[in-house]
Amino acid sequence: MQDILDELESRRARARLGGGEKRIEAQHAKGKLTARERIELLVDEGSFEEWDMFVEQEPNELTVDIEPIPGDGVVVGWGTINGRTVFVFSQDFTVFGGSLSEAHAAKICKVMDKAMSVGAPVIGLNDSGGARIQEGVGSLAGYADVFQRNVNASGVVPQISAIMGPCAGGAVYSPAMTDFIFMVRDTSYMFVTGPDVVKTVTHEEVTLEELGGAVTHNSKSGVADGAFENDVETLAQLRRFFDFLPMNNREKPPVWPTSDPFDRAEPSLDTLAPPDSTKPYDIKELIEKVADEGDFFELQPDYAGNIVIGFGRMEGRTVGFVANQPMVLAGCLDIDSAKKGARFVRFCDCFNIPIITFVDVPGFLPGTAQEYGGIIKHGAKLLFAYAEATVPKVTVITRKAYGGAYDVMSSKHIRGDLNYAWPTAEIAVMGPKGAVEIIYREDRDDPAKIEARTEEYRARFANPFVAAQKGFIDDVIFPRNTRRRLCRALKMLETKQLENPWKKHDNIPL
Ligand code: HXC
Repeated sequence: MQDILDELESRRARARLGGGEKRIEAQHAKGKLTARERIELLVDEGSFEEWDMFVEQEPNELTVDIEPIPGDGVVVGWGTINGRTVFVFSQDFTVFGGSLSEAHAAKICKVMDKAMSVGAPVIGLNDSGGARIQEGVGSLAGYADVFQRNVNASGVVPQISAIMGPCAGGAVYSPAMTDFIFMVRDTSYMFVTGPDVVKTVTHEEVTLEELGGAVTHNSKSGVADGAFENDVETLAQLRRFFDFLPMNNREKPPVWPTSDPFDRAEPSLDTLAPPDSTKPYDIKELIEKVADEGDFFELQPDYAGNIVIGFGRMEGRTVGFVANQPMVLAGCLDIDSAKKGARFVRFCDCFNIPIITFVDVPGFLPGTAQEYGGIIKHGAKLLFAYAEATVPKVTVITRKAYGGAYDVMSSKHIRGDLNYAWPTAEIAVMGPKGAVEIIYREDRDDPAKIEARTEEYRARFANPFVAAQKGFIDDVIFPRNTRRRLCRALKMLETKQLENPWKKHDNIPL
């Protein structure tokens, strides 16, 4: 009997060694952890159960002389994060560069299928040279099997990708179809074609880092949602992030204990928005002052900074925050911010996460770059996303809410449930100066008259009361009481029922 147990132990030890000591050392020398070390940091201690440790890829004529490695370059299974189930796959770069074969893909598919049937999130730790070249079309088929599951799982269970090494070619499309992508600075990169191909085709000289590193995808392309210093920090942040998410689309987000009183007043908010509406202020201060314990997990902080998105909690329950940021482009909506906001709103709506919107928006950014870039279609994404969302939506207009952007930002008219304004709010078709220049064109050469007309307009329209008179604003609230008003609103809305008309799916302007 002991022989049999020893045999099992030695087979396990062989599988755990992956590509061998040398390659593990090389992985460590690059500042990277191995696939199993990463899982250990990601899930609760001792909770991981590995599947398919002994799976091997069938040899073909190109690989018949290569010794197969049990596990075939990916570690899969399930564990818990703070007690909640999560399915995980972690590619092992020490085995054929983490490249994907049919067997490797089948292992990933197995955990994804189980995640779907159980209703639990999937986290993929990606570190792979892409399709295993020796496997040819078999590996392409394997990728497609994974892609199909990503699509089926989209909106059913949360899917998160961490890019912790190379991610090249078609391999980027599985992460791209997941809900969130986190990258590790300096050691991870994503691109469809590498620097050599780029040089051949477009004659551009570009480094790996410039082409597809964490900085590029977190500040230029908007492909990624967060960048972290190293493997350890990335995995710690993944754990923190996971705690905000519900298990699936039929469950509500988790409720975590909090000692933060729901009615905590914040007198400093009374003076947050400067009276001169051309002066900026940091909208993140508002988010941090209303969220439980000031805990805000911001997504895409370095991309389209004119809109701020991320998760926080109110009375222990997850909420999605969307806020215009007056510090960047005066908080205007543009192509990038509309896309960023829209995708986030849709995620929240898929997974029953209420949305709190803070509005301070002078309008859409004018200019040929925006018009030629398709602001009409991209701006419509945010409008569409808010309008179709059926989760509780609570809006606070802190200062400017002008023009179409007023409508877009979770207004009453697109089914905002509760719409509040601070006394500093200005809700109108456009700002006083622009409005006067158009409607009193005949006075434009008379600065005194223009000044008087502007003041008149400001007094008449640049306030929350015109909208409040019409019932478009449910109440004008004291800024210091924002947290209490939001918590009470969300509590009241917990049992909200709202359904969109039956359809196969909508046709959001992509
Ligand atoms: C087989 C691979 C491999 C691959 C790496 N290896 N990529 N084996 N198929 N795709 C192996 C190497 O031979 C090497 O084996 C080990 O992994 C480590 O690779 P190195 O090159 O030594 O590592 P490094 O210098 O860090 O470079 C990593 C890399 C590079 C940038 C990822 O290996 C690389 O460019 N690989 C090819 C990437 C690629 O073009 N993939 C195909 C993309 S097309 P030994 O035995 O020496 O340790 C694609 C199509 C999918 O993915 C389409 C889906 C629709």
